[in-house]
Order: sequence, then C-alpha cells, then structure tokens
Amino acid sequence: MKVTVVGAGAVGASCAEYIAIKDFASEIVVLDIKEGFAEGKAMDLMQTASLNGFDSKITGTTGDYSKTAGSDVAVITSGIPRKPGMTREELIGINAGIVKMVATSLIEHSPNVIIIVVSNPMDTMTYLVHKATGLSKNRIIGMGGALDSARFKYRLAEALGAPISDVDGMVIGGHSDTGMIPLTRLAARNSVKVSEFLSEERLEQVAADTKVGGATLTGLLGTSAWYAPGAAVSEMVKAIALDSKNIFPCSTLLNGEYGQSDICIGVPVVIGKDGIEKIVEIELSAAEKEQFAVSAEGVRKTNALLS
Ligand code: 2OP
Repeated sequence: MKVTVVGAGAVGASCAEYIAIKDFASEIVVLDIKEGFAEGKAMDLMQTASLNGFDSKITGTTGDYSKTAGSDVAVITSGIPRKPGMTREELIGINAGIVKMVATSLIEHSPNVIIIVVSNPMDTMTYLVHKATGLSKNRIIGMGGALDSARFKYRLAEALGAPISDVDGMVIGGHSDTGMIPLTRLAARNSVKVSEFLSEERLEQVAADTKVGGATLTGLLGTSAWYAPGAAVSEMVKAIALDSKNIFPCSTLLNGEYGQSDICIGVPVVIGKDGIEKIVEIELSAAEKEQFAVSAEGVRKTNALLS
C-alpha cells in the first residue's frame, strides 16, 4: 500500500508517524509546500525506523505531486489550523481553495485513490472534495467521528474510573463544537450501559466535554491537536489496507440515509479496501434524530459559504 499525506505540519506528521509505526504501508509520501519541510520530517521519521521496528519507506517532497503517483490512499491535512477562540468553520475561506487544489492534484496522479479529509471545517471540506472531483462517494472519507469517538471514550473512562479498553462509545453528526452528538444512550462499559454507572447529569457533562474536545486542546496548545487526529487517521488507513470492515463514524455523502441528502456528515460506516463500503443506519431516539437534524443544518450553513 502506498499512502500520501499532504501537509507536513503537526497533524500530517503525526498521521505519517502512526501509519509507519503500525507497519502496514510499504510506502508513505509526505508532501508540503514549505521548501524542504516534508523532506526533513520524512528523514527524521525514517531515522526512527530501526528504533520503532517498521519497514515502511517514508519520503518527502516539496509540492511535487508526481511523487504521489499510484497512491492507494491520500490524507489531506493541508490548510491552516485553529487558533484559540476560533471555530473550525472560520477556517473555510483559506482552506477551501487549498483543499480543492490538493484534491485535484492528487487525483491527477492517482485516479483510483481513496481520499481521507482532515482539514477543517472537515464536513464541508469533504463535501467540497465531492463537488470538485467527481470521485465516487465511497472514495471520499471525512475524518472526524473516529477522533471525536476516541475523545468520548477518554471522557467516559475518566468519569467511570475505568480503563479505556473497557469503554465503547460513538460520536455522530458534524465535526464541530456544537454539531457533535456523543451517543451516551448506547455507550457501554463491557456491554453494560454507562447509564448503570453514571447519573444523567454526569453523562451530560461527559458529552459536553467531548464536544469541545478540540477547542479545549486548542486553548491549551495554542493550535489544534495532532496526536489523536493522527492516530484516528492511521486506524482508518489501516482498515483500508487490511480490508478489515471495521465500523467508524465518518463524514460521508448521504443520499437519504438518516433523513439527509446532498450533505457530508458523520455517521457509522464500514471501512474496507474500497473505502466506505456501507453506511450503517442505526435507529436513533427522537431526541437524537432532532439533534442530528440540527447538526446537519449547521453543516449546511457552512457548506453555503462555499459558493
Ligand atoms: C480536532 O478536533 C483537528 O479538528 C481536529 O482536533
């Protein structure tokens, strides 16, 4: 498997690092527009290979898309990250042009690529890639839900005083501070619903902390987070590489599912060698349906800024 990561900033480098460490890709290309930056990150990462025990070959390039030719998967992390106090939606003006150019250049050299979109506002950038490229819908995947669900599990484990490996939970909806829907009703500790252990009030707090997970880190770090976004991407790429058919909540183009059409938003999907192989429709409660409709409305408002 050949994987391209566009953007050698903290998120892109973290994606490349986790993909390399998991050792399922033969080749990883990191591309950035800053002269020598991707080459430097790639060389530094390659010098961890003997220490971390991986055989993936990592190379860097300054803007030369011909080096990405024949990629099976490409991860788009390019664009500007959030600064403290900013919403993801505020990044649209700069990031839309960048993401469109990157996606088009990638497809020119890798017509069968599967694109994972990380750049924010992620749901709208995923929609933009659909509109700009015409790539089949299974080949365009927005990364948000996998990250938000990891943050949800972290908060659940904290509240339960349990190891994270005991905890299961999923976040659907838009990847925004207000649009995320942590499904507390379905979250479980070893098959036991978390509502058996936590009060409704505590669960509401868990959900609220999850939704501002990215904003909390941006406040602490001065820029957006990178470890968990990189790890989430690496798990999605691994599912494609191994054709594992794992379920992840991802932003995907809906065509009537969950009562929505012509929008990319987070829902559970099966990921395998063809990218998104199936959208999994689960029965939502009336309250969750209402939250999903409101979340979709928020994403549509941001999508409207594209034109
Ligand atoms: C985050 O939530 C980068 O949007 C990403 O950290």
